Amino acid sequence: MIAGMHPPISSVVATKRERDVAVVAVNNSPVNALSQAVRAGLLAAVQEAAADASVRAIVIRCLGRTFIAGADISEFGQPPQAPHLPEVTEAIDNCSKPVIAAIHGTALGGGFEIALACHYRVAASDAKVGLPEVKLGLMPGSGGTQRLPRLIGAQRALQMIVGGEPVPAPQALEWGAIDEIAAGEVSAAALDAARRLISSGTLLRRASQLTCGSAPAEIFAEAELTAANKQRGLIAPLRCIEMVRIATTTDFAEGTQKERAAFLILRQSPQAAALRHAFLGERMVAKHPSLPAETPVREVRAAGVIGAGTMGTGIAMCFANAGLPVTLVESDSQALERGVGTIRRNWASSVARGRMTEAELARRMDLIQPSLDYDALSGADLLVEAAFEDLSVKKQVFEKIDQVARVGTILATNTSYLDVGEIAHFTRRPKDVVGMHFFSPAHVMKLVEVVRTPETAPDVLATAMQLGKRLGKVAVLVGGCDGFVGNRMLAQRTREAYFLLEEGALPEQVDRALYEFGFPMGPFAVGDLSGLDIGWRNRKARAHLRKPGVRDSNLLDKVCEMGRRGQKTGAGWYRYEAGSRTPIPDPVIEQLIVEHSRQAGIERRVIADQEIVERCLYSMINEGAKILAEGVAARPLDVDMVWLHGYGFPAHMGGPMFYADQVGLDRVLKQIQLFKECLGTDFWTPAPLLEQLASDGKGFYSGM
Ligand code: COA
Repeated sequence: MIAGMHPPISSVVATKRERDVAVVAVNNSPVNALSQAVRAGLLAAVQEAAADASVRAIVIRCLGRTFIAGADISEFGQPPQAPHLPEVTEAIDNCSKPVIAAIHGTALGGGFEIALACHYRVAASDAKVGLPEVKLGLMPGSGGTQRLPRLIGAQRALQMIVGGEPVPAPQALEWGAIDEIAAGEVSAAALDAARRLISSGTLLRRASQLTCGSAPAEIFAEAELTAANKQRGLIAPLRCIEMVRIATTTDFAEGTQKERAAFLILRQSPQAAALRHAFLGERMVAKHPSLPAETPVREVRAAGVIGAGTMGTGIAMCFANAGLPVTLVESDSQALERGVGTIRRNWASSVARGRMTEAELARRMDLIQPSLDYDALSGADLLVEAAFEDLSVKKQVFEKIDQVARVGTILATNTSYLDVGEIAHFTRRPKDVVGMHFFSPAHVMKLVEVVRTPETAPDVLATAMQLGKRLGKVAVLVGGCDGFVGNRMLAQRTREAYFLLEEGALPEQVDRALYEFGFPMGPFAVGDLSGLDIGWRNRKARAHLRKPGVRDSNLLDKVCEMGRRGQKTGAGWYRYEAGSRTPIPDPVIEQLIVEHSRQAGIERRVIADQEIVERCLYSMINEGAKILAEGVAARPLDVDMVWLHGYGFPAHMGGPMFYADQVGLDRVLKQIQLFKECLGTDFWTPAPLLEQLASDGKGFYSGM
């Protein structure tokens, strides 16, 4: 054993002596999460150092990339094991010797609560601190809601605890959440601070013993209003507000008791389970069972995009945003100019909003090379075709890029409905062809469906998945089928939404029901926003697929035939005042729908919101079950991540498959069987997988 080194207290916490200072180091890769072993190790280390007369101060630091980034999220579903975090923070707070936190990376959640319990906090200049628990449907449960307001005041504490966004060290210093920014290496600065505290002999400054000044009632009312708007339907933000209010009126001991009680309730809540699932799922989705970690990847140093329309320009922006040079090819010079103009305008609006500098705009524009010539694509390692959604157009494009692309270049198509396998055969290298289905607006939406064909090479898939992450997206690997995962399920919801109109609902009722469920917008408002002609064109292109005798609603055709294409024409399912995006229910549409029902011989009835939600969601869930049984998605979490990141499914509901499990598959199935009785077998025949799981008393997650 090295001199001065004590045997490790646990495999993840070790104490090293620096003369009279005990330096306790946490080493729990990747993010030093507070697993049971870390909590136990820290508690033992602090107790040991406190009892050792030769120790006069304690520094808590972390090895690896970050200070403790929070509770171990993967432990949350399991029965909690002692010691619990409040025991650790209390031991630190009560320690008679100065305890100094040396923060680098991100001190988040329970990690920041540990730092707050310390008597002094030193941070690296690029560190961040925060209490993001609210984003996981939780609140700080180890004194964070009581110590932080005592240090920085109620208003800023509300901002940090209810908003959940981490704060950069300089800001945290200004507010008083930390005490010092390290001039050099943070552990050395923490040791210096320890020595200063020892020699000054001043009383320890414990956040728990400070008083939190009273705060005006308005700041809490305002926080509640903001939460109601920005964190709609979530319980945790409201509990966080309540706890900060308590900190302003109650002593620390009572405050922490109330905090713990509220925390334990939230931890068991379905919302927390769903948000935890969303967090872990976003990371797990990248690890696809068919792509072992050792799957090789191809290097992508330069990209190319074909098509400078809405999708192509958005995709080109994604590459440049990630620092990758991208050649944007378009055969029509005016379209190319328009596309480049759109890109510049989009970034300029970020500059105007203070989110980007002029210099950054110039740097990103430099990364985009517009060209009218396919030969310009010869240097790219990956090409994304974003041309018109028509198989003959795709054929032309892929034949051309097959001529110019180097050997080993990945050829991706952004098609949303066409058969990627068929497109692959327009080239002489189907193994290199993959779908990369971005969602509009591509530079904003996080989802990319990576669509495999039976022939796509594993290294092509692994590269596309890795590239997705590099672009800041959530890439989900799916198989080929009509609409892939997302649009195939969406088609079910869209159909039911039209049928509901025919049977008695109005667009505003359907939209309100789904908005209240948690979607940011209902399907009709979304249609108006993205333009009704897209769906209309799609309906026409697919008219030949419609089976005679199977119910079909042509309401959309009727709306479009009136010249109503959505917001861009000032009217669609709703009407819009000039310059406004607020949908206003329109009696013209009501009349159209009522007349349509009459012509179709459907007697209109009062439809409950619950029926709307169930028909829209259960039709999707039933389709999701088929998608899983067919292997188009390998796991329920792949389906859920598609819906969370591409279609605004509320994260606190976890995604359609997770939600179905929470409702209970037996209940979902029963309702689907009822719909089958009332609405027929065309669309409501239960998926065999759903029947199987329900009869086994399982869920999608527990049964697959
Ligand atoms: N508990 C358990 N595992 C965690 C974790 C936590 N609190 N935070 C991150 N991880 C894991 C991730 O699942 C990921 O695992 P993987 O490599 O097996 O996929 C790994 O740590 C790295 O996380 P990732 O998010 O990919 O890295 P990053 O560098 O982009 O971000 C953080 C790091 C810490 C900023 C980010 O992970 C984060 O915000 N974590 C949650 C923090 C939090 O909410 N804490 C409060 C919990 S109550």
